[in-house]
Amino acid sequence: NTYRIGYFVGSLATHSINRTLSKALIRLATPDLEFFEIPIKDLPLYSYDYDAEYPAEGKALKDAIASADAVLFVTPEYNRSIPGALKNAIDWASRPWGSNSFAHKPSAVIGASPGALGTAIAQQSLRSVLSFCDSPQMNAPEAYVRFKPDVFTSDGGVVDEHTEHFLRNFMEEFRDHIVRVLTVLPRKP
Ligand code: FNR
Repeated sequence: NTYRIGYFVGSLATHSINRTLSKALIRLATPDLEFFEIPIKDLPLYSYDYDAEYPAEGKALKDAIASADAVLFVTPEYNRSIPGALKNAIDWASRPWGSNSFAHKPSAVIGASPGALGTAIAQQSLRSVLSFCDSPQMNAPEAYVRFKPDVFTSDGGVVDEHTEHFLRNFMEEFRDHIVRVLTVLPRKP
């Protein structure tokens, strides 16, 4: 079996270190995982006024998640939480009421920061959002990446052996998590 992974990069920055991390994760993943990015940058700010008629960007977001077997969040920490653009995308996907795109959708969270905490606090915040959205998250391993520019090349190469091993293991565990969830949980909707 192959599994389709829709991934979110929480940063809109041109030289995002989290985008670099996403490239590294894709390169290190097991060959049975296929990846496509779920873009968030063109979504308007969500309001329930849109629920009656979602704009094209909102529909595309929900279709993309529906077509994925699982979702992966690669996000920076902004002010000890997740970036507003990512929260906005999650809010869009969780609605209209009764058609929450994350229900029963396996997920994993990871992120990189130049700081020592490696996005740990943002990830806690994201985990609580995903819990509410009924997404079965991979609990372990956690991955708090302290980004050092000499460890990653811009196209996602990982120079440091320990980091490479750690990230490869994270993706193997994610694959196993997806297989387990898809075995026991019926898909929604
Ligand atoms: C940051 N940064 C940051 N880092 C961190 O570890 N904890 C934090 O709470 C914050 N807060 C924060 C707020 C805002 C508005 C910005 C712009 C930045 C620094 C951040 O980790 C750094 O800019 C990374 O490069 C962000 O990742 P991307 O966007 O490059 O992927």
